[in-house]
Amino acid sequence: MEVVLNSKFYVTTPIYYVNDKPHIGHAYTTIISDTLARYHSLCGDEVFFLTGTDEHGQKIEQSAKKNNENPSEYVDKVASKFKDMWDSFNISYDKFIRTSEVEHKNSVKNAFIKMFNKGDIYKGEYEGNYCISCESFVMNAILCPDCGKELVKLKEESYFFKLSAYEDRLLKFYDENPNFILPTYRKKEVINFIKNGLEDLSITRTSFKWGVEIPNEVAQMSDKEHVVYVWLDALMNYLSALGYENNLESKMEFFPPDIQLVGKDILKFHAIYWPAFLMSLDLPLPKHIAAHGWWTKDGAKMSKSIGNVVNPSEVVSEFGLDVFRYFLLREVPFGQDGDFSQRAIVERSNADLSNVLGNLLNRLLGMGEKYFDNNLDSLSFASAYEVELKEVEDSINIAREYIFKVELHNYLESIWRIFDLANLTITKKEPWKLIKENKYNEVAELLVFISNTLIKGAYMLYPCMPASAKKILSVFSLGDDGFGRFVVNKEILTSVKLNHIPPLFPRLEVKEEIKQEIKSEAKLEPLSIENVIDRDYFMNIDIKVGTIIEVEVLPKSEKLLKLRVDLGETRPRQIIAGIKLYYEPQELIGMQVCVLANLKPAKLMGEISEGMILAVKDDSGLSVITPHKVAQNGSKIS
Ligand code: ME8
Ligand code: MG
Repeated sequence: MEVVLNSKFYVTTPIYYVNDKPHIGHAYTTIISDTLARYHSLCGDEVFFLTGTDEHGQKIEQSAKKNNENPSEYVDKVASKFKDMWDSFNISYDKFIRTSEVEHKNSVKNAFIKMFNKGDIYKGEYEGNYCISCESFVMNAILCPDCGKELVKLKEESYFFKLSAYEDRLLKFYDENPNFILPTYRKKEVINFIKNGLEDLSITRTSFKWGVEIPNEVAQMSDKEHVVYVWLDALMNYLSALGYENNLESKMEFFPPDIQLVGKDILKFHAIYWPAFLMSLDLPLPKHIAAHGWWTKDGAKMSKSIGNVVNPSEVVSEFGLDVFRYFLLREVPFGQDGDFSQRAIVERSNADLSNVLGNLLNRLLGMGEKYFDNNLDSLSFASAYEVELKEVEDSINIAREYIFKVELHNYLESIWRIFDLANLTITKKEPWKLIKENKYNEVAELLVFISNTLIKGAYMLYPCMPASAKKILSVFSLGDDGFGRFVVNKEILTSVKLNHIPPLFPRLEVKEEIKQEIKSEAKLEPLSIENVIDRDYFMNIDIKVGTIIEVEVLPKSEKLLKLRVDLGETRPRQIIAGIKLYYEPQELIGMQVCVLANLKPAKLMGEISEGMILAVKDDSGLSVITPHKVAQNGSKIS
């Protein structure tokens, strides 16, 4: 990939909903963005790093109600939890935006008017389903295709954005900008979504109040009170924060964003809706939308509703901020899901931080003190270590390419090549033997080489682990302003004076609760499970209990029966089931069965079948699955 250094660098996180306190997932996105912001600052770019909170919409209104608070008090309280956490984590954001701020609301209103004047907004009625949890409109489904939760039915007056008019322009844009979506393998799902047909997007709601009111110019067209759809409201934060169409000092010179970090759950909103809105506003599009995977706990996506969230502050107080950052950035390839456990942190930290980096620094400090009283000098080291120095520069170049693809796991791995090489070189040279042979000059060459690997490595590490990198650099009396000298200009030092610091990454013990984690895994022999699916996938499978109320024999078919099954819906379902050989029609009537309810209807023997009866078949025949105790018709199996 082409490496472009901008003089201005604009990076964003999603703005997080304030219905939930911050968890590892939020910390992950924010720490990745922080790393990119810090990297670009080191490179000398002028950086604008934006994060904040998404405070409107039905979900937030409901959460406030549940807490018996009015929405504005409620959002103030939760928003400060996010801000406080990022402050305590030293997140280098330039602005923390809140969508409840008046300047943001002004931007949204003015953008709405622009789109309206452009002819992209018209009044209509939305009739369909809605997922309150994702705040997203879903037409033809019973459960939300994204989160698996129950949908609510909506029928309300609404203004629509002519999203369908942007289909071709969007497809052309992805085609001309193949790296717009990162990792690039995610592009396909976005394109497929569009190719399945883009419908116009409902962009106002009338059935609740907590949002930005539509501007008066437009409101006059309606006798209902409309608030702006929370996703249009939220996406505008990337503009309002820069003073777009509001009274804040304009920083629009940073626009468009260079990179926008999102979780894969909200890629559609950022890769489809957001660019279409920008096209409508005649604004340039972001350079990259980078979607990372999900952190799971025990295999399930971390989320408040499942109740498996891990509090990042607790992890940080247990292991330290930099260990936490390193773990998040290094453990999982960018874009993929990862399972979070304390044990994984301990193992990762011991293997990479203690055994490799910490050990390297200890070896240098130990020998430097013992053999040279901490004063290292060698003019000849660069020629003696020409090959190794070249390898160090190669690793740096490779790492720097990775950061432009947000492949931070590969970035870190490339940096670790430098530290590995340094450790290996010590082992190979056996300096303790050289000293006995009085070859001080050779040992000095080695230790000056090691010092240079640590200096360059520390500058590269700085964006990921700022505090630790600073400590390493303090060993050489260097500050955090040497990236240009030692990385960009490839400078080396031939003389260093070592300052001693306490051991950087002491080995982490495996604590009692982690031992339990290990034990419970160890007791069980590994099983090979085929076609593994995750919990989200299962949540999309809608199996319900129903009662068979009618059975009809299909004379033309040997195997099929036509059933009517009451699933607690407005009418019974017609299901064609291959169970005729095993049951008499009479014995089926009144029986409760389990029905795969969101299976696409299909025709069997010319009859429509609206679901599938679950059954088990073995040598002794077939038996339908029935709940052990009578259940209400329509109850979901989970
Ligand atoms: O979607 N693993 O807010 P949100 C990894 N307000 N990342 C996770 C995660 C997990 N288990 N859970 C959450 C919204 N995240 C909207 C965004 S932007 C204009 C509006 C991270 O509070 C990840 O970045 O649900 C995900 O995209 C984001 O939090 C969703 O946060
Ligand atoms: Mg969410």
